[in-house]
Amino acid sequence: TRVVVLISGSGSNLQALIDGQKAGSLPVEIACVISNRPGVRGLERAAEAGIEALTLDHKSFASREDFDTELAQQIDQYRPDLVVLAGFMRILTPEFTQRYQGRMLNIHPSLLPKYQGLHTHQRALDAGDSEHGVTVHFVTDELDGGPAAIQAVVPVIPGDDAASLAARVQQQEHVIYPLAVQWFAEGRLTMTDNKALLDSEPL
Ligand code: GRF
Repeated sequence: TRVVVLISGSGSNLQALIDGQKAGSLPVEIACVISNRPGVRGLERAAEAGIEALTLDHKSFASREDFDTELAQQIDQYRPDLVVLAGFMRILTPEFTQRYQGRMLNIHPSLLPKYQGLHTHQRALDAGDSEHGVTVHFVTDELDGGPAAIQAVVPVIPGDDAASLAARVQQQEHVIYPLAVQWFAEGRLTMTDNKALLDSEPL
């Protein structure tokens, strides 16, 4: 299974996928890493792993559509089976999400459908939630709204602040994202009629 990973920053989720691949538990080839921001840590992680990486600086495009068009052209050169958004902080146009519908995953640090958008950890704290978590979902044209493939729940501990809660969530991100990608690679995780289906056995 050939995968292209899109990042915007530290790339800790990318690193989890790289580590899974190296450990032999993740039967994927990461063909390329694309960042919309230059000079981020995730690009170094790709280079250290010997993975081709490129930067598509969104600031050098006149419009969101122009950026997405160029991004799709770059992605399609690698003929990916799966596109993985890993800390990719861009809102994508409907044309782009429809192009990869059913073969594009995202990870969002909340128990969707709660807390779509940003600052999810602070919002959970402000709401006094006793539980919080993270969701891997198929990407549709609804921001942070596609069908959920896997979720992890973490407790909110008295005294938590956004940073301590984010750290607890991130630990689970690095568990469930490789698992979701593995299931997709095994042909077990599919998106049908806007639902994520997980087969008990590989197809
Ligand atoms: C993570 O908190 C993830 O939930 C969100 O982006 C943040 C950074 O991810 N999608 P990464 O460390 O760049 O993979």
